[in-house]
Amino acid sequence: MSELSNMGEILVTGGAGYIGSHMCVALLDAGYTVTVLDNLSNSTSESIAAVQRVTNRTLDFVADDLRDAGALARLFGRKRFAAVLHFAGLKAVGQSTADPLAYYDNNVVGTLRLLEAMTAHQVRTLVFSSSATVYGIPDVMPITEDSPPGPINPYGRTKFHIEQILADLQATDPAWRISILRYFNPVGAHISGDLGEDPNDVPNNLMPYIAQVAVGRLPGLRIFGDDYPTPDGTGVRDYIHVDDLVEGHLAALRYLERHPGLAIHNLGTGRGHSVLEMVRAFEAASGRTIPCEIVARRAGDAAESYADPTKANRELGWRARHDVRRMCEDVWRWQQRHPQGYRA
Ligand code: NAD
Ligand code: UFG
Repeated sequence: MSELSNMGEILVTGGAGYIGSHMCVALLDAGYTVTVLDNLSNSTSESIAAVQRVTNRTLDFVADDLRDAGALARLFGRKRFAAVLHFAGLKAVGQSTADPLAYYDNNVVGTLRLLEAMTAHQVRTLVFSSSATVYGIPDVMPITEDSPPGPINPYGRTKFHIEQILADLQATDPAWRISILRYFNPVGAHISGDLGEDPNDVPNNLMPYIAQVAVGRLPGLRIFGDDYPTPDGTGVRDYIHVDDLVEGHLAALRYLERHPGLAIHNLGTGRGHSVLEMVRAFEAASGRTIPCEIVARRAGDAAESYADPTKANRELGWRARHDVRRMCEDVWRWQQRHPQGYRA
Protein backbone atom coordinates (compact mmCIF):
# COMPACT_ATOMS: atom_id res chain seq x y z
CA MET A 1 0.00 0.00 0.00
CA SER A 2 1.92 2.99 -1.24
CA GLU A 3 0.06 5.60 0.81
CA LEU A 4 1.69 4.54 4.06
CA SER A 5 5.09 4.00 2.53
CA ASN A 6 4.91 7.61 1.41
CA MET A 7 4.38 8.65 5.04
CA GLY A 8 0.83 9.81 4.35
CA GLU A 9 -1.32 11.67 6.82
CA ILE A 10 -2.63 9.70 9.80
CA LEU A 11 -5.83 10.50 11.70
CA VAL A 12 -5.48 9.79 15.42
CA THR A 13 -8.84 9.74 17.20
CA GLY A 14 -8.45 10.33 20.93
CA GLY A 15 -4.99 11.74 20.27
CA ALA A 16 -5.15 14.14 23.24
CA GLY A 17 -5.50 11.21 25.66
CA TYR A 18 -2.85 9.24 27.49
CA ILE A 19 -1.92 6.64 24.87
CA GLY A 20 -2.97 8.72 21.85
CA SER A 21 -0.66 11.60 22.80
CA HIS A 22 2.33 9.23 23.09
CA MET A 23 1.29 7.78 19.71
CA CYS A 24 1.39 11.26 18.17
CA VAL A 25 4.96 11.73 19.41
CA ALA A 26 6.01 8.43 17.83
CA LEU A 27 4.24 9.23 14.54
CA LEU A 28 5.74 12.73 14.28
CA ASP A 29 9.19 11.37 15.19
CA ALA A 30 8.77 8.74 12.45
CA GLY A 31 7.96 11.42 9.87
CA TYR A 32 4.19 11.08 9.54
CA THR A 33 1.83 14.02 9.21
CA VAL A 34 -0.77 13.84 11.99
CA THR A 35 -4.32 15.07 12.56
CA VAL A 36 -5.91 14.53 15.98
CA LEU A 37 -9.67 14.37 16.49
CA ASP A 38 -10.60 14.58 20.18
CA ASN A 39 -13.57 16.07 22.04
CA LEU A 40 -11.41 16.56 25.18
CA SER A 41 -13.99 14.70 27.29
CA ASN A 42 -11.14 13.00 29.19
CA SER A 43 -8.13 15.16 28.32
CA THR A 44 -6.94 18.72 27.72
CA SER A 45 -5.30 20.40 24.76
CA GLU A 46 -2.22 20.80 26.99
CA SER A 47 -1.21 17.30 25.94
CA ILE A 48 -1.25 18.39 22.29
CA ALA A 49 0.96 21.35 23.18
CA ALA A 50 3.32 18.94 24.98
CA VAL A 51 3.45 16.62 21.94
CA GLN A 52 4.44 19.54 19.76
CA ARG A 53 7.05 20.74 22.26
CA VAL A 54 8.82 17.40 22.68
CA THR A 55 8.84 16.63 18.95
CA ASN A 56 9.44 20.19 17.77
CA ARG A 57 6.81 19.47 15.11
CA THR A 58 3.22 20.56 14.61
CA LEU A 59 0.03 18.60 14.15
CA ASP A 60 -3.51 19.54 13.18
CA PHE A 61 -5.88 19.38 16.16
CA VAL A 62 -9.65 19.15 15.57
CA ALA A 63 -11.75 19.49 18.75
CA ASP A 64 -14.83 17.53 17.62
CA ASP A 65 -16.82 14.53 18.74
CA LEU A 66 -16.52 11.23 16.92
CA ARG A 67 -20.31 10.93 16.87
CA ASP A 68 -20.71 14.19 14.94
CA ALA A 69 -21.23 12.91 11.37
CA GLY A 70 -21.11 16.44 9.94
CA ALA A 71 -17.76 17.16 11.58
CA LEU A 72 -16.35 13.85 10.29
CA ALA A 73 -17.64 14.56 6.75
CA ARG A 74 -15.92 17.97 6.78
CA LEU A 75 -12.68 16.49 8.11
CA PHE A 76 -12.53 13.58 5.65
CA GLY A 77 -13.61 15.99 2.88
CA ARG A 78 -10.60 18.24 3.36
CA LYS A 79 -7.91 15.61 4.05
CA ARG A 80 -6.78 12.40 2.42
CA PHE A 81 -5.86 10.06 5.27
CA ALA A 82 -3.64 7.05 4.65
CA ALA A 83 -4.86 5.38 7.86
CA VAL A 84 -6.79 5.95 11.07
CA LEU A 85 -5.51 5.02 14.54
CA HIS A 86 -8.66 4.82 16.65
CA PHE A 87 -8.03 5.49 20.37
CA ALA A 88 -11.11 7.62 21.18
CA GLY A 89 -13.37 6.02 23.74
CA LEU A 90 -14.46 5.94 27.35
CA LYS A 91 -12.54 3.44 29.48
CA ALA A 92 -13.64 3.46 33.13
CA VAL A 93 -14.99 0.02 34.02
CA GLY A 94 -17.02 1.18 37.06
CA GLN A 95 -18.57 4.11 35.21
CA SER A 96 -19.53 1.76 32.36
CA THR A 97 -21.50 -0.39 34.80
CA ALA A 98 -23.27 2.69 36.23
CA ASP A 99 -24.07 4.18 32.81
CA PRO A 100 -23.85 1.50 30.12
CA LEU A 101 -25.78 3.49 27.51
CA ALA A 102 -23.21 6.29 27.63
CA TYR A 103 -20.52 3.67 26.93
CA TYR A 104 -22.38 2.00 24.05
CA ASP A 105 -23.18 5.41 22.59
CA ASN A 106 -19.69 6.85 22.87
CA ASN A 107 -17.67 3.76 22.00
CA VAL A 108 -19.88 1.75 19.64
CA VAL A 109 -21.87 4.53 17.97
CA GLY A 110 -18.74 6.70 17.79
CA THR A 111 -16.91 3.87 16.00
CA LEU A 112 -19.84 3.35 13.60
CA ARG A 113 -19.77 7.06 12.62
CA LEU A 114 -16.02 6.79 12.07
CA LEU A 115 -16.36 3.66 9.90
CA GLU A 116 -19.13 5.32 7.86
CA ALA A 117 -16.94 8.36 7.19
CA MET A 118 -13.97 6.14 6.31
CA THR A 119 -16.16 4.10 3.93
CA ALA A 120 -17.57 7.21 2.26
CA HIS A 121 -14.06 8.58 1.68
CA GLN A 122 -12.36 5.29 0.71
CA VAL A 123 -10.06 5.24 3.73
CA ARG A 124 -9.84 1.57 4.61
CA THR A 125 -6.85 1.17 6.90
CA LEU A 126 -7.61 1.14 10.62
CA VAL A 127 -5.81 0.26 13.84
CA PHE A 128 -8.23 -0.20 16.74
CA SER A 129 -7.42 0.08 20.46
CA SER A 130 -8.94 -3.04 21.96
CA SER A 131 -8.16 -4.44 25.37
CA ALA A 132 -7.32 -7.58 27.28
CA THR A 133 -10.66 -6.86 28.95
CA VAL A 134 -12.31 -8.77 26.05
CA TYR A 135 -10.93 -12.00 27.59
CA GLY A 136 -12.83 -11.42 30.85
CA ILE A 137 -11.49 -13.75 33.54
CA PRO A 138 -9.54 -16.37 31.59
CA ASP A 139 -8.86 -19.85 32.92
CA VAL A 140 -5.49 -20.40 31.28
CA MET A 141 -2.33 -18.26 31.38
CA PRO A 142 -0.71 -16.84 29.35
CA ILE A 143 -3.53 -15.41 27.23
CA THR A 144 -3.26 -16.04 23.49
CA GLU A 145 -5.40 -14.40 20.83
CA ASP A 146 -7.31 -17.71 20.63
CA SER A 147 -8.28 -17.62 24.31
CA PRO A 148 -12.08 -17.43 24.41
CA PRO A 149 -13.54 -13.94 24.71
CA GLY A 150 -15.90 -13.24 27.62
CA PRO A 151 -16.02 -9.61 28.70
CA ILE A 152 -17.63 -9.15 32.12
CA ASN A 153 -18.57 -5.47 32.11
CA PRO A 154 -20.18 -2.98 29.67
CA TYR A 155 -16.83 -1.33 28.84
CA GLY A 156 -15.39 -4.70 27.86
CA ARG A 157 -18.49 -5.54 25.85
CA THR A 158 -18.19 -2.28 23.86
CA LYS A 159 -14.68 -3.38 22.85
CA PHE A 160 -15.89 -6.85 21.95
CA HIS A 161 -18.86 -5.54 19.92
CA ILE A 162 -16.58 -3.19 18.02
CA GLU A 163 -14.22 -6.07 17.22
CA GLN A 164 -17.19 -7.99 15.78
CA ILE A 165 -18.37 -4.97 13.77
CA LEU A 166 -14.87 -4.67 12.32
CA ALA A 167 -14.80 -8.36 11.39
CA ASP A 168 -18.21 -8.08 9.67
CA LEU A 169 -17.08 -5.01 7.77
CA GLN A 170 -13.85 -6.61 6.60
CA ALA A 171 -15.75 -9.74 5.52
CA THR A 172 -18.02 -7.72 3.23
CA ASP A 173 -15.24 -5.58 1.75
CA PRO A 174 -11.83 -7.28 1.54
CA ALA A 175 -10.20 -3.94 0.69
CA TRP A 176 -10.21 -3.14 4.40
CA ARG A 177 -6.95 -3.54 6.33
CA ILE A 178 -7.75 -3.73 10.03
CA SER A 179 -5.47 -4.29 12.99
CA ILE A 180 -7.08 -5.02 16.35
CA LEU A 181 -4.58 -4.55 19.17
CA ARG A 182 -5.51 -5.95 22.56
CA TYR A 183 -3.53 -3.99 25.13
CA PHE A 184 -2.65 -5.43 28.50
CA ASN A 185 -1.85 -2.82 31.19
CA PRO A 186 -0.35 0.34 29.69
CA VAL A 187 1.78 2.37 32.11
CA GLY A 188 4.79 4.67 31.85
CA ALA A 189 5.34 8.08 30.39
CA HIS A 190 7.45 9.85 27.80
CA ILE A 191 11.15 10.02 28.74
CA SER A 192 11.02 13.84 28.77
CA GLY A 193 8.65 13.89 31.75
CA ASP A 194 6.47 16.34 29.80
CA LEU A 195 3.85 13.82 28.73
CA GLY A 196 2.06 11.24 30.86
CA GLU A 197 -1.18 9.84 32.25
CA ASP A 198 -3.41 12.49 33.81
CA PRO A 199 -6.62 10.98 35.20
CA ASN A 200 -9.51 13.38 35.74
CA ASP A 201 -10.55 12.07 39.15
CA VAL A 202 -9.06 9.73 41.72
CA PRO A 203 -7.30 7.11 39.56
CA ASN A 204 -8.93 3.70 39.13
CA ASN A 205 -5.73 2.07 37.94
CA LEU A 206 -2.81 0.95 40.04
CA MET A 207 0.12 2.84 38.54
CA PRO A 208 -1.34 6.39 38.50
CA TYR A 209 -2.71 5.72 41.99
CA ILE A 210 0.72 4.75 43.34
CA ALA A 211 2.27 7.78 41.63
CA GLN A 212 -0.22 10.15 43.28
CA VAL A 213 0.48 8.57 46.67
CA ALA A 214 4.23 9.02 46.11
CA VAL A 215 3.83 12.69 45.22
CA GLY A 216 1.58 13.32 48.25
CA ARG A 217 -1.78 13.84 46.53
CA LEU A 218 -3.26 10.69 48.07
CA PRO A 219 -2.58 9.32 51.56
CA GLY A 220 -2.04 5.65 50.78
CA LEU A 221 -2.73 2.71 48.49
CA ARG A 222 -5.49 0.22 49.18
CA ILE A 223 -4.43 -3.19 47.87
CA PHE A 224 -7.47 -5.08 46.66
CA GLY A 225 -6.90 -8.53 48.14
CA ASP A 226 -3.85 -10.51 49.26
CA ASP A 227 -5.50 -13.92 49.16
CA TYR A 228 -5.32 -14.64 45.41
CA PRO A 229 -3.64 -17.86 44.26
CA THR A 230 -0.55 -15.88 43.17
CA PRO A 231 3.01 -16.03 44.62
CA ASP A 232 2.43 -13.18 47.14
CA GLY A 233 -1.39 -13.26 47.15
CA THR A 234 -1.86 -9.94 45.30
CA GLY A 235 -3.15 -9.57 41.73
CA VAL A 236 -0.77 -10.14 38.83
CA ARG A 237 -0.86 -8.09 35.61
CA ASP A 238 1.17 -7.59 32.45
CA TYR A 239 2.33 -3.95 32.67
CA ILE A 240 3.58 -2.58 29.37
CA HIS A 241 5.39 0.73 28.80
CA VAL A 242 3.31 3.14 26.72
CA ASP A 243 6.31 3.70 24.43
CA ASP A 244 6.46 -0.03 23.65
CA LEU A 245 2.71 0.02 23.07
CA VAL A 246 2.90 2.83 20.52
CA GLU A 247 5.83 1.10 18.79
CA GLY A 248 3.43 -1.83 18.41
CA HIS A 249 1.07 0.46 16.49
CA LEU A 250 3.82 1.55 14.11
CA ALA A 251 4.62 -2.13 13.56
CA ALA A 252 0.91 -2.80 12.93
CA LEU A 253 0.79 -0.04 10.31
CA ARG A 254 3.77 -1.60 8.55
CA TYR A 255 2.13 -5.03 8.78
CA LEU A 256 -1.09 -3.73 7.20
CA GLU A 257 0.88 -2.42 4.23
CA ARG A 258 1.78 -6.02 3.40
CA HIS A 259 -1.35 -7.78 4.67
CA PRO A 260 -4.88 -6.83 3.71
CA GLY A 261 -7.50 -8.39 5.97
CA LEU A 262 -8.11 -8.33 9.69
CA ALA A 263 -5.52 -9.28 12.28
CA ILE A 264 -5.71 -9.49 16.05
CA HIS A 265 -2.62 -9.15 18.25
CA ASN A 266 -2.00 -9.04 21.98
CA LEU A 267 0.29 -6.22 23.05
CA GLY A 268 1.91 -7.23 26.33
CA THR A 269 5.34 -8.14 27.64
CA GLY A 270 4.45 -11.73 28.50
CA ARG A 271 5.56 -11.16 32.11
CA GLY A 272 3.27 -10.75 35.10
CA HIS A 273 4.01 -8.57 38.13
CA SER A 274 2.07 -8.49 41.39
CA VAL A 275 0.69 -5.38 43.07
CA LEU A 276 3.34 -5.69 45.80
CA GLU A 277 6.12 -5.99 43.22
CA MET A 278 4.87 -2.82 41.54
CA VAL A 279 4.77 -0.98 44.86
CA ARG A 280 8.34 -2.00 45.64
CA ALA A 281 9.54 -1.06 42.14
CA PHE A 282 7.92 2.37 42.48
CA GLU A 283 9.42 2.91 45.92
CA ALA A 284 12.86 2.09 44.50
CA ALA A 285 12.40 4.46 41.53
CA SER A 286 11.03 7.34 43.58
CA GLY A 287 12.82 6.94 46.90
CA ARG A 288 9.42 7.46 48.56
CA THR A 289 7.51 5.10 50.82
CA ILE A 290 4.05 4.03 49.63
CA PRO A 291 1.82 3.40 52.66
CA CYS A 292 -0.36 0.36 51.88
CA GLU A 293 -3.44 -1.21 53.42
CA ILE A 294 -4.84 -4.60 52.42
CA VAL A 295 -8.58 -4.41 51.79
CA ALA A 296 -11.16 -6.76 50.25
CA ARG A 297 -10.88 -7.93 46.67
CA ARG A 298 -12.34 -5.58 44.02
CA ALA A 299 -15.35 -7.09 42.26
CA GLY A 300 -14.58 -8.36 38.78
CA ASP A 301 -10.79 -8.58 39.22
CA ALA A 302 -8.90 -11.60 37.89
CA ALA A 303 -6.17 -13.14 40.03
CA GLU A 304 -3.75 -12.89 37.15
CA SER A 305 -3.66 -11.70 33.57
CA TYR A 306 -0.67 -11.73 31.29
CA ALA A 307 -0.19 -12.01 27.57
CA ASP A 308 1.35 -14.52 25.28
CA PRO A 309 2.82 -11.93 22.88
CA THR A 310 4.31 -14.57 20.52
CA LYS A 311 1.96 -13.71 17.65
CA ALA A 312 2.84 -10.00 17.75
CA ASN A 313 6.55 -10.87 18.10
CA ARG A 314 6.39 -13.12 15.06
CA GLU A 315 3.98 -11.33 12.73
CA LEU A 316 4.59 -7.69 13.61
CA GLY A 317 8.31 -8.08 14.31
CA TRP A 318 7.65 -6.25 17.57
CA ARG A 319 8.45 -6.92 21.19
CA ALA A 320 8.23 -4.88 24.36
CA ARG A 321 11.64 -3.64 25.53
CA HIS A 322 11.14 -1.64 28.71
CA ASP A 323 11.13 -3.28 32.14
CA VAL A 324 9.15 -2.38 35.24
CA ARG A 325 12.00 -0.32 36.66
CA ARG A 326 11.99 1.91 33.56
CA MET A 327 8.17 2.16 33.67
CA CYS A 328 8.30 3.40 37.28
CA GLU A 329 11.18 5.82 36.64
CA ASP A 330 9.34 7.42 33.73
CA VAL A 331 6.05 7.70 35.61
CA TRP A 332 7.86 9.25 38.56
CA ARG A 333 9.63 11.82 36.36
CA TRP A 334 6.26 12.86 34.86
CA GLN A 335 4.51 12.91 38.25
CA GLN A 336 7.22 14.98 39.92
CA ARG A 337 7.26 17.56 37.16
CA HIS A 338 3.45 17.68 36.98
CA PRO A 339 2.13 16.88 40.46
CA GLN A 340 -1.34 18.11 39.45
CA GLY A 341 -1.14 16.81 35.85
CA TYR A 342 -1.55 19.08 32.84
CA ARG A 343 -4.08 21.32 34.53
CA ALA A 344 -1.66 22.76 37.05
P1 NAD B 1 -7.82 8.42 27.49
O1 NAD B 1 -9.15 8.63 28.13
O2 NAD B 1 -6.64 9.09 28.08
O3 NAD B 1 -7.91 8.83 25.95
C1 NAD B 1 -9.08 8.69 25.17
C2 NAD B 1 -9.30 10.00 24.44
O4 NAD B 1 -10.48 9.87 23.64
C3 NAD B 1 -9.53 11.18 25.39
O5 NAD B 1 -8.65 12.24 25.04
C4 NAD B 1 -10.97 11.57 25.17
O6 NAD B 1 -11.20 12.96 25.33
C5 NAD B 1 -11.22 11.08 23.74
N1 NAD B 1 -12.61 10.76 23.43
C6 NAD B 1 -13.45 9.96 24.12
N2 NAD B 1 -14.65 9.91 23.51
C7 NAD B 1 -14.56 10.68 22.40
C8 NAD B 1 -15.46 11.02 21.37
N3 NAD B 1 -16.73 10.58 21.36
N4 NAD B 1 -15.05 11.85 20.38
C9 NAD B 1 -13.78 12.33 20.38
N5 NAD B 1 -12.89 12.05 21.33
C10 NAD B 1 -13.26 11.23 22.34
O7 NAD B 1 -7.59 6.84 27.40
P2 NAD B 1 -6.28 6.02 27.00
O8 NAD B 1 -5.77 5.34 28.21
O9 NAD B 1 -5.36 6.86 26.20
O10 NAD B 1 -6.93 4.88 26.09
C11 NAD B 1 -6.97 4.99 24.68
C12 NAD B 1 -7.71 3.80 24.11
O11 NAD B 1 -7.07 2.60 24.53
C13 NAD B 1 -9.16 3.69 24.59
O12 NAD B 1 -9.94 3.25 23.51
C14 NAD B 1 -9.10 2.65 25.68
O13 NAD B 1 -10.31 1.98 25.82
C15 NAD B 1 -8.01 1.74 25.14
N6 NAD B 1 -7.35 0.97 26.21
C16 NAD B 1 -6.78 1.63 27.25
C17 NAD B 1 -6.20 0.90 28.29
C18 NAD B 1 -5.60 1.60 29.48
O14 NAD B 1 -5.43 0.95 30.52
N7 NAD B 1 -5.25 2.88 29.39
C19 NAD B 1 -6.17 -0.51 28.23
C20 NAD B 1 -6.72 -1.15 27.12
C21 NAD B 1 -7.31 -0.39 26.11
N1 UFG C 1 -5.21 -2.45 42.37
C1 UFG C 1 -5.12 -2.23 43.74
N2 UFG C 1 -5.41 -1.00 44.23
C2 UFG C 1 -5.79 0.04 43.41
C3 UFG C 1 -5.88 -0.20 42.02
C4 UFG C 1 -5.60 -1.45 41.53
O1 UFG C 1 -4.79 -3.14 44.50
O2 UFG C 1 -6.07 1.15 43.91
C5 UFG C 1 -4.87 -3.79 41.82
C6 UFG C 1 -6.02 -4.50 41.13
O3 UFG C 1 -6.79 -5.23 42.05
C7 UFG C 1 -5.27 -5.37 40.13
C8 UFG C 1 -4.03 -4.54 39.76
O4 UFG C 1 -3.89 -3.60 40.83
O5 UFG C 1 -4.83 -6.54 40.74
C9 UFG C 1 -4.18 -3.76 38.46
O6 UFG C 1 -5.39 -3.00 38.49
P1 UFG C 1 -5.70 -1.89 37.39
O7 UFG C 1 -7.01 -1.25 37.75
O8 UFG C 1 -4.52 -0.99 37.22
O9 UFG C 1 -5.80 -2.73 36.04
P2 UFG C 1 -6.83 -3.86 35.60
O10 UFG C 1 -6.01 -5.01 35.11
O11 UFG C 1 -7.84 -4.15 36.64
O12 UFG C 1 -7.60 -3.18 34.39
C10 UFG C 1 -6.95 -2.37 33.38
C11 UFG C 1 -7.99 -1.42 32.80
C12 UFG C 1 -9.04 -2.22 32.08
C13 UFG C 1 -8.38 -3.07 31.04
C14 UFG C 1 -7.33 -3.96 31.65
C15 UFG C 1 -6.59 -4.73 30.59
O13 UFG C 1 -8.60 -0.64 33.83
O14 UFG C 1 -9.94 -1.34 31.44
O15 UFG C 1 -6.40 -3.17 32.38
O16 UFG C 1 -6.10 -3.87 29.62
F1 UFG C 1 -9.30 -3.84 30.45
